[in-house]
Amino acid sequence: MESTLRQELLKIENENFLQVYSRLPIVVSKAEGAYIWDKDGTKYLDFLGGIAVNVLGHSHPKIIEAITIQSSKYLHLSNYFYQEAQITFAEQLTKSTNYPRVFLTNSGTESVEGALKLIRKWGNINNKNNIIAFEGGFHGRSYGALSLMDKPIYKSDMGPFLSGVTIIKYNSPEELELAVNPFTTAVFLEFLQGEGGIVGVSAEFVDKLLELKEKYNFLIVADEVQAGMGRTGKFFSFEHYNIKPDIVLVSKGLGGGLPLGAILTTEDLANVWDKSQHGTTFGGNALSCAVGKVVLEEINNSVMQNVLNIGEYFYEQLRLVKNEFPEKVKSVRGRGLMLGLELSFEAKLLLNELLKENIITNATSVNVLRLVPPLIITKEEVDIFIRGLNNSLKSL
Ligand SMILES: Cc1ncc(COP(=O)(O)O)c(C=O)c1O
Repeated sequence: MESTLRQELLKIENENFLQVYSRLPIVVSKAEGAYIWDKDGTKYLDFLGGIAVNVLGHSHPKIIEAITIQSSKYLHLSNYFYQEAQITFAEQLTKSTNYPRVFLTNSGTESVEGALKLIRKWGNINNKNNIIAFEGGFHGRSYGALSLMDKPIYKSDMGPFLSGVTIIKYNSPEELELAVNPFTTAVFLEFLQGEGGIVGVSAEFVDKLLELKEKYNFLIVADEVQAGMGRTGKFFSFEHYNIKPDIVLVSKGLGGGLPLGAILTTEDLANVWDKSQHGTTFGGNALSCAVGKVVLEEINNSVMQNVLNIGEYFYEQLRLVKNEFPEKVKSVRGRGLMLGLELSFEAKLLLNELLKENIITNATSVNVLRLVPPLIITKEEVDIFIRGLNNSLKSL
């Protein structure tokens, strides 16, 4: 019965959707903590976490409670109203990040679009017209975001894109120095690239960025959509360096599984937009904000400490795996619970082996296995993963 329903769902998906997703062969019946169950009863360990979204795991009781309470009051009202859930969440977000101004969105790419409008307007006021972005970067699927990215897989045959953007080599102080000038409006970057293969910038690069900002007065925009929300052991990944960007973009984990994003910025940029120059129907809806409040509380209370403890343990275990399989694992990289295994072969192959071990992961940058589990995972769950990884690497 279940298997007939399963087949039927696969068929309907195939016949009704635009076929842009390569889905895993799993029809989910429920998810809890760091686990997902297929309709056939198989239990999987989830080290993908909704692509770095489910920071508190699946079905967290406090999230369910927040949804229940808020949904009994109201769901959506629009930004014409003062809404307690939205306002208290925003206050908590600005206080815990030390960014005093916020605009709430629904997604990462929407945060990127808003930031582009903000920096373009600031640039027009200050006679600056060029944005610098980086090879390997990922900022989303809308046109502004794609304009900041170089990889043909996301862009080919879909131009024209925004003008006034220069894409340069990631993490190269020399290229940065050559690219910026008095007309540079902003430098737009991930301090730890996710889709780019879990690679980060060096302290030397950040020093050069700050030196050039001092000289040319441009804005620094940190895309923390994937690496933020405590995932690297600090609230934002740029906090591992001595820098405070002018604009910070978040989403993914912020809503704990509901669509929510934010553009955070300083008092200096608070008045760049006039009333009605930006807006959104759903951004900052009460339900997502009620959940966002729980997420922030949990991250600040205990979850970030778990990332530090478990992240260190996980990294060490992955290094042991690398030592065991030196021809197959080239490097272990990343911070906290945003880790990557650089492989000497296509990561897709390992992903499929891991699936046979009932472990869910994904691949980025062709040969990197990306590990972005829920931030509440335990040492025992890391051990299960490592056992499965060892078995998978043995059989490849
Ligand atoms: C760094 C970064 N920025 C932006 C985005 C786009 O976010 P969304 O898919 O919510 O639009 C992503 C998504 O993976 C991301 O990793």
